[in-house]
Amino acid sequence: MDMAFLESSIGVEDLVLLEPLEEESLLKNLQLRYENKEIYTYIGNVLVSVNPYQELSIYGPEFIAKYQDYTFYELKPHIYALANVAYQSLRDQDRDQCILITGESGAGKTEASKLVMSYVAAVCGKGEQVNSVKEQLLQSNPVLEAFGNAKTIRNNNSSRFGKYMDIEFDFKGSPLGGDITNYLLEKSRVVKQLEGERNFHIFYQLLAGADAQLLKALKLERDSSGYTYLNREAPRVDGMDDASNFKALQSAMIVIGFSEEEFRQVLEVTAMVLKLGNVELADEFQANGVPASGIRDGRGVQEIGELVGLNSVELERALCSRTMETAKEKVVTALSVIQAQYARDALAKNIYSRLFNWIVTRINESIKVDTGEKKKVMGVLDIYGFEILEDNSFEQFVINYCNEKLQQVFIELTLKEEQEEYKREGIPWTKVDYFDNGIICDLIEHNQRGILAMLDEECLRPGVVSDSTFLAKLNQLFSKHEHYESKVTQNAQRQYDHSMGLRCFRICHYAGKVTYNVNSFIDKNNDLLFRDLSQAVWKARHPLLRSLFPEGDPKQASLKRPPTAGAQFKSSVAILMKNLYSKNPNYIRCIKPNEHQRRAQFSSELVAVQARYLGLLENVRVRRAGYAYRQAYGAFLERYRLLSRSTWPRWNGGEREGVEKVLGDLSMSSEERAFGKTKIFIRSPKALFYLEEQRRLRLQQLATLIQKMYRGWRCRIHYQLMRKSQILISSWFRGNMQRKRYEKMKASALLIQAFVRGWKARKNYRKYFRSGAALTLANFIYRSIAQKFLLRLKDNLPSTSILDKTWPAAPYKYFSTANHELQKLFYRWKCKKFRDRLSPKQVETLREKLCASELFKGKKASYPQSVPIPFYGDYIGLQRKPKLQQLKGGEEGPVLVAETVMKVNRGNGKTSSRILLLTKGHVIITDTKNSQPKTVIALDSVARVSVTSFKDGLFSLHLSELSSVGSKGDFLLVSEHVVELLTKMYRAVLDATQRQLPVTVTEEFSVRFKESSVAVKVIQGPGGGGKRKLSCKKKGSRCLEVTVQ
Ligand SMILES: Nc1ncnc2c1ncn2[C@@H]1O[C@H](COP(=O)(O)OP(=O)(O)OP(=O)(O)O)[C@@H](O)[C@H]1O
Ligand SMILES: [Mg+2]
Repeated sequence: MDMAFLESSIGVEDLVLLEPLEEESLLKNLQLRYENKEIYTYIGNVLVSVNPYQELSIYGPEFIAKYQDYTFYELKPHIYALANVAYQSLRDQDRDQCILITGESGAGKTEASKLVMSYVAAVCGKGEQVNSVKEQLLQSNPVLEAFGNAKTIRNNNSSRFGKYMDIEFDFKGSPLGGDITNYLLEKSRVVKQLEGERNFHIFYQLLAGADAQLLKALKLERDSSGYTYLNREAPRVDGMDDASNFKALQSAMIVIGFSEEEFRQVLEVTAMVLKLGNVELADEFQANGVPASGIRDGRGVQEIGELVGLNSVELERALCSRTMETAKEKVVTALSVIQAQYARDALAKNIYSRLFNWIVTRINESIKVDTGEKKKVMGVLDIYGFEILEDNSFEQFVINYCNEKLQQVFIELTLKEEQEEYKREGIPWTKVDYFDNGIICDLIEHNQRGILAMLDEECLRPGVVSDSTFLAKLNQLFSKHEHYESKVTQNAQRQYDHSMGLRCFRICHYAGKVTYNVNSFIDKNNDLLFRDLSQAVWKARHPLLRSLFPEGDPKQASLKRPPTAGAQFKSSVAILMKNLYSKNPNYIRCIKPNEHQRRAQFSSELVAVQARYLGLLENVRVRRAGYAYRQAYGAFLERYRLLSRSTWPRWNGGEREGVEKVLGDLSMSSEERAFGKTKIFIRSPKALFYLEEQRRLRLQQLATLIQKMYRGWRCRIHYQLMRKSQILISSWFRGNMQRKRYEKMKASALLIQAFVRGWKARKNYRKYFRSGAALTLANFIYRSIAQKFLLRLKDNLPSTSILDKTWPAAPYKYFSTANHELQKLFYRWKCKKFRDRLSPKQVETLREKLCASELFKGKKASYPQSVPIPFYGDYIGLQRKPKLQQLKGGEEGPVLVAETVMKVNRGNGKTSSRILLLTKGHVIITDTKNSQPKTVIALDSVARVSVTSFKDGLFSLHLSELSSVGSKGDFLLVSEHVVELLTKMYRAVLDATQRQLPVTVTEEFSVRFKESSVAVKVIQGPGGGGKRKLSCKKKGSRCLEVTVQ
């Protein structure tokens, strides 16, 4: 719990915490706080308020809002805190409340009640209906104050009546309406005021505030000094503007619901009261000598008559005479001036007090709650406090009686009830002694033996009745009563008290001793208005005035006495008490700090007296000893079970166990709590506040939890929805995207297809296209040209002779390749044909020719000449010369060549002819005449052959050295058919030995000759070409020069 408020406080904010607990320290504490403008102090839940007599800036909407949000002990003590507790308890716990505001005159009760009302009005429901109800309730104050308040010596705005106001609420705590009960208007003030005091505010307000027209209509004058009932000394009150208050009164009455007419009538009756005071009475002579009275100046009565529609003569008669009526006869007696004045004043007082009652009733009519629904009630009691004046009369007696009863309520409800409850609940309790004022109440109100009963008895008793007889009766009855004293009882006990007058009695009230003077007790109790007067007034045409005196109606007239003032008051107090007992009390104890209505002045003596009779110290003691708070287990558990995990949210055990669990969990010390039979008791307000604070925090937590769960749930739902939507959207989107893609692909495929098809079609149809026509035509032309060309070629083919190489030229250049190819083909074809026609012999011949070509073409000059000449082979007619045929010996096969050759002598260069035969295996050389033995050379001995490049027939057969003929050396020969001879030899060597005979074409070669060699050098002679002539010249032994032609 936050104890900061205790530390920062001035003195102690709750007197329960006071240390030491004594009257002195209590007063000091109040004084300290008062001097620091802390006018409010607690005793537990009782508020002590010390009148600041200055405007403090602790009220208004800002403070109302502050106190509305906090619990009782969280902020500084304040009347708003108390009002808040009461209102919340009413609204939330359905407990009717009463706020008892007590204190001396000027202590601040009325101000406190207004603060409470304004607080409740500010915090309770709002709305047009509610606001108008609130406004009516609040506006009842200025009306009641105008008619019921007056300036007194103690208080410039003293309430001269007691007021109890019930404010009624619906189940929600919105105000529905109210009901006002008023007690004992101090009507004597209408006719007489003490020095320095004033009559009721309304008179001054009317005179100051009414416009001239209204005043004239009311037959009034603005100057208040002209009115006997208005105290001439003090027409003005400091800080009070009667004129503007009159305006405020008027608008307040309108707000409450008074009609213009009603307002006017009220003013007329008020004016009548004023004017009655100016009705002067004078002695009048009567024949029988009995003193009589009459009106000195008839104008006043006249005007009254006009004002209220009353016959002035009748009024005068009623004022100045009295009709005594018995069952048999009527006797009219004249009144003396004193009596007449008494009657006049009685009339004025009665009219005024009845008017006041009528106003209260009229207000109640307006603020009455019509609905039958169950109402919650908050009662505010603003009633005069205990009064001890110098001279105390009947008024003080009843006022103090009322306070005695209120003290009883306080005792009953707080002290006694508290102790008894502890007993009932079995809570250990040290008894606190308190004074039970039941005995004093009894003394006053006992039905048979109470002072009020005695007074009534005296009033009703036939015979001579006076205040003295009444006092004597009291003395007799209460001679032994410990709270009753008088000169007689004192004398009996031999006490000598000079302060006690003979016509006085003294009562030891709980708040102190008060001495009452019995003078006019009987009268005041009787409160009689002579019937003549009521009957006269009833006759007025003024509806309001008339209605105030129903007993004046002769038909209604009864001889039965109306109840006495004392009895009336007693019964209304009884009703009030019953009312208060049924409600939860909240106390505001108002204290007046000084007698001078001065700010910042604190009179300890004065406050001490008040503190004593308010029982503050006692109150603190009981508070301390007891427990600040109690509650039935069930209700307590219901309220606080949310503070423990075991009991929240479900508790299945008993209520008491549940409460134990909750307090156990909060680890509240055992001193702070006690478990009664049916209730839990919490000792200190702090502990209760702690509980409330915890509950408040817990409620916030729970609210947060609910919020959290709700938000979570909402977000989850929202999320799920979003997710679903997202999935839906994305599925649609994807579908859509894929569809689009597909469409695109499809379109593309179609496009490609179309293109391909188109392309294909175009390709197919290209030939039909104009663009292809040229090509086609060209092709056609090409073809026809080619055709023509080929056909013409066919008709003009050259001869099939292979030697004919002529070929028609291509008609166009682009046929040249083809033409060339054709030419080649044709030629090949011609050759083939030619070849096909050849005989094997011809083939052989041609092969030989071919071989000759390979060997000599381009190398030997005589070659070209050899080509057209067929190779005969036999140039010597071998067939016909058998001798020669024998040369070949036994060798198989034909003679390939038979010819006459020239043999060059290697030694001298001379030539000699020889016959040469070439067979398949040999070369046979012999001389023409067979004179010499023939030379046979095996072909494999022929190593190589050398020839010249010229046209000559010289050739050399180079023999291999190993052969048998080789030793003879190489042969140097000349043949006319050298090409044929060598070609055939080559072929024969190839056939015989598979060896290619090397044939060397050279102009210089060497020939072996007898183990040495001779270099042969061939030179081209100058003749050239003619007859083949050859000359050899030996040049040295080793060189042979051959010159050819
Ligand atoms: N809380 C307050 N703040 C400022 N002034 C206050 C306060 N309470 C009382 N007063 C002053 O004290 C005066 C008397 O107060 P109030 O009329 O309430 O006394 P009362 O107890 O009703 O007296 P009575 O019994 O005569 O009607 C008020 O007119 C006002 O000037
Ligand atoms: Mg008052």
